[in-house]
Amino acid sequence: MVTVRAPATSANLGSGFDVFGAALTRPADVVTVEKAAETTIEVTGVGAQYIPEDPEKNTVGAVVEALDAPARIHIDKGVRPASGLGSSAASAAGAAVALNRLYDRGLSRSELVPVAAEGEAVVSGVAHSDNVAPSILGGFTVTTSETTHAVDAAVPLVVCLPDVAVSTRDARRVVPERAPMEDLVETVGNAATLAIGMCRSDPDLVGAGMSDPVVTPERARLITGYDEVRAAAFDAGAAGVTVSGAGPAIIAVCREDRRRGVAAAMLDAFAEAGIDARAYQTRIGKGSTVL
Ligand code: HSE
Repeated sequence: MVTVRAPATSANLGSGFDVFGAALTRPADVVTVEKAAETTIEVTGVGAQYIPEDPEKNTVGAVVEALDAPARIHIDKGVRPASGLGSSAASAAGAAVALNRLYDRGLSRSELVPVAAEGEAVVSGVAHSDNVAPSILGGFTVTTSETTHAVDAAVPLVVCLPDVAVSTRDARRVVPERAPMEDLVETVGNAATLAIGMCRSDPDLVGAGMSDPVVTPERARLITGYDEVRAAAFDAGAAGVTVSGAGPAIIAVCREDRRRGVAAAMLDAFAEAGIDARAYQTRIGKGSTVL
């Protein structure tokens, strides 16, 4: 039997649409696998009632196929589905790392990224690696269609998750097909600034580079209270605020001593908008860990 803790992730971090990702120290899924003749999947934990246990429909089924590794699988969800925190990616990443170990397949962490991305495709329709990469490798990740690079970064974060769901499919429908050149230039400048900030573990630089004039404004419209929560986080000392992944979670970067205040301010602003929410005081952390 192998048990793996697979972290939640945030991907895009604003300016890095479909490219940037970060592993969060919390929340996380815990995936346990045991060899079996036929694959079965049991799901417990947060939002388990929304997740199919049929291996054909579960994100983990495609990972089992790719590794030819039938197993009895238990997924204990800590990452709520439809949150913008890489919920399906955490399960796929955890299963890939666990099954690789259970069956001694010998794949490296980097080789497991496209395997777990196959699982993502089952849920989102596209085999994106921007969430599975940080959930497997940890740190801050830059994923293109060809490569993934990861660096460790010690950056404090707050993730505020409202008690509403936004599906990745819906959030992808509002992404503009084209953008003006001036917006693209601004986005590239911001993304480069953010990447340097990560390499220096500098929350102020990361925050300065989060702004994205192309995708985030469209997605923010799907999140009731977004503008107020964003403003409250900045007032409390956040260096940058954006939609986490496809939403509805909102992610803020700040200095360590501001994290508690930023979390409280974001929760208060959601409450003012009449929406229940929970806040995770977190940071960029490790990838999937065999327990
Ligand atoms: N980067 C993706 C998005 C996350 O924001 O739609 C889902 O893979």
